[in-house]
Parts: sequence; C-alpha cells; structure tokens
Amino acid sequence: MTVREKIQRFLKELRDGGTAAPPADIRPHEPMSRHTTMKAGGEADLLIVPQDVDELRRVIQAAHRAGLPLMVLGGSNVIVQEGGITGVVVKLSRLNRIRVAGPDRIEAEAGVLLPRLARAAARAGLSGLEFAIGIPGTVGGSVVMNAGTREGELAPRIASVTLMRWDGELVTLEREALHFRYRHAELPQGCVVGAAFVLQPAPAAGIEATMSRMLGERNATQPLHSPSAGCVFRNPQGDSAGRLIEAAGLKGYRIGDAQVSERHANFIINRGRARAGDILALIRHIGRRVERQFGVTLELEVKIIGRAAQSRRAARPSRRASGGRAAGRGSGSRIGAVAAQTMRSR
Ligand code: EPU
Repeated sequence: MTVREKIQRFLKELRDGGTAAPPADIRPHEPMSRHTTMKAGGEADLLIVPQDVDELRRVIQAAHRAGLPLMVLGGSNVIVQEGGITGVVVKLSRLNRIRVAGPDRIEAEAGVLLPRLARAAARAGLSGLEFAIGIPGTVGGSVVMNAGTREGELAPRIASVTLMRWDGELVTLEREALHFRYRHAELPQGCVVGAAFVLQPAPAAGIEATMSRMLGERNATQPLHSPSAGCVFRNPQGDSAGRLIEAAGLKGYRIGDAQVSERHANFIINRGRARAGDILALIRHIGRRVERQFGVTLELEVKIIGRAAQSRRAARPSRRASGGRAAGRGSGSRIGAVAAQTMRSR
C-alpha cells in the first residue's frame, strides 16, 4: 500500500471508527517551520492536534490499523529535514493541564511547556524545577530526553510517567523503571501523555528569586530570543561543546541563514529563512572542524528527523505516490537518530 493509500485508510478509520466525531484539528501538508523552535523544515503529511487523551487514542489506533507512521513532536530539540515527515505528526499542545496533587507533588500533561510548569510549581511553593525555567521543551519531550541544565535534570524529580501504548492502553511507570541517564530515558514504545513530579515544599518567593537569577544567567549566555533548537551537540565527557566550537573559531560562522550563535557556540540560530539543508551543512562543518582541530567527535543532542529534500515526492499524498515507503527518519548515519517520542505503526 502506498503512503497516500495509508493516509486515506487512516482518515476513513477516524471517520468510521466509533461514535465520536473525528478530530477537528487535522492539517494536511503542514509546514513544520510553524511547529518547531528552529522555525525550519519541510511539511508533515498530516499534523493533528488532539483535543484530549481520548482523541489521541483514536488517532494512534487509526494510524496503527492503517500502518501509517506516527510521530509525536514537541517541536524543540529537533530539526526537520526539507523533505518533510511521512505520515502523521501529533502535537500535544492541547494536553496542557497542570494539577498540584499533594503537599510535595505536581502533575502535568505532556503538552505543558516546562517554564509554565516551573512557574506553577513555584506559585504552589514547590521547589526542584527552578532549572527548567529557561528550557523551551514540553513535559513529554523533556521526560523522553531527561532535559536538564548544569543546575539539574528532570529525572530525580520525576515520580512516574504515564504513557499511551500502541493499543491505546495507558500505563504508568515509576521512575526506577525508566533508567534515566544523561539526556536519555528508556521508555517502552508509546507516547508520553503526562508525568508526576515530587518536589520539596519551600517559600514561593525564594523559588521565584532563584528562577529569575537562572533566567538572567541564561539570557546573558544563550540566544534565547532567536529561533534555535537549543544546544546542538552533547557535551563531551569533562568538556563543553560550546567551548570547543568557539575555540575552533566558528562563532558567527554562517551558511545561508543558519548561523553559529555569537552568544553561545553550541547553538545554531535561524537568522530568518534558514533551510534545513543549511543547518545540516553547518552541523557537519562544525563536527569536521572540531574533530580536525581537537580530535573530539561531537555527538548530536538535537534529533534530525524527516527526509532529505530529494525523496520528498515519493510520499506526497496529493500526487501519485511511487512506492509507499515508510520513511520518516533522517537519511544520515548518526543523524537518523530516533526522534524524541517517536512511534511507528507496524
Ligand atoms: N563556553 C565557551 N563558549 C561558548 C559557550 C560556552 O567558551 O560559546 C564555555 C563557558 O564559558 C563555560 C563552559 O563553556 O566555561 C560551559 O558553558 P555553559 O555554562 O554555557 O554550559 P554548557 O555546557 O555549554 C549546558 C547545557 C545547556 C544548559 C547550560 C546551563 C548541554 C549540552 N548543555 O551548556 O543545555 O542550558 O549547561 O545550565 O548539556 C540544552 O540542552 O539545549 C542546553 C542549552
């Protein structure tokens, strides 16, 4: 079956599969530049923004039945290639509830932005998420990535994570089951729909003062007001990728509208109309220069997803699809790393 046929089957499954109305927010050929913090990248065949967990379940089940690739994206920490994304991209921005669930506990749905959660925790007099104030990710993506800064990471604050499996079942996993490491968690196949955090009760004013200090420091050292995907590379053991890139003389280096930030060299900023191809060329250039000059192989922290521009036509649903390739991953070697919260129908 071609991808186009799978999309048609998926839409039919959504229409016919049950009593509820099909999701209202389905956007064909949606430019991912509108949904990524990098503000670049090709189109998703279909972007769906479910209203709630039940709608998410119907989307997941229909994609599974149609054999259509499905990927959940927060939009930060990711670069979408110019060829776009085959199948369904799900955005969880409407799963955005926060609940203070006890004297030391706060729960959030996957689409909540971390700075909003950090502020809500502060207002409730709960300390432990101050470091998250400048992280532009969603709860879902940040759990999967074990997002963090030098001041802390998410893992020690997580009590449990709730995940929707392929079959639509919800499972809740305790922190110990997730084997968190530096920017990594081991999650079963599925989609994070929420997480519970255990924090320490403390005076709100003190928490807010710490957050303002941290935000001030980040503003001074990182390009928080320019579109970017956050830090591009992981820090090598005992060193800093930003320091190495600056020492290689690459601050301000530019390919098209993609530029190594003058403020922090481990950020690539979009100066306006950066193309994914320019960003990837810049990433390769940085990698080669640092390797040649310092013998250090930098590893990507951002995920590169979607297909390179030339293979785009194969899956465009409005044209004759030529092969029904279940693509959706990068074409480069390490670059094809599995996307945060990626799920695929089989
Ligand atoms: N440095 C340079 N030049 C630069 C950038 C940094 O010389 O262009 C030097 C700094 O002077 C400092 C050292 O490198 O001596 C470390 O820099 P910084 O404190 O900015 O921290 P980082 O290691 O570059 C990490 C996280 C950031 C997080 C900051 C602050 C990673 C890959 N990066 O950066 O996380 O915000 O600490 O806590 O772990 C992200 O994950 O997207 C991210 C931005």
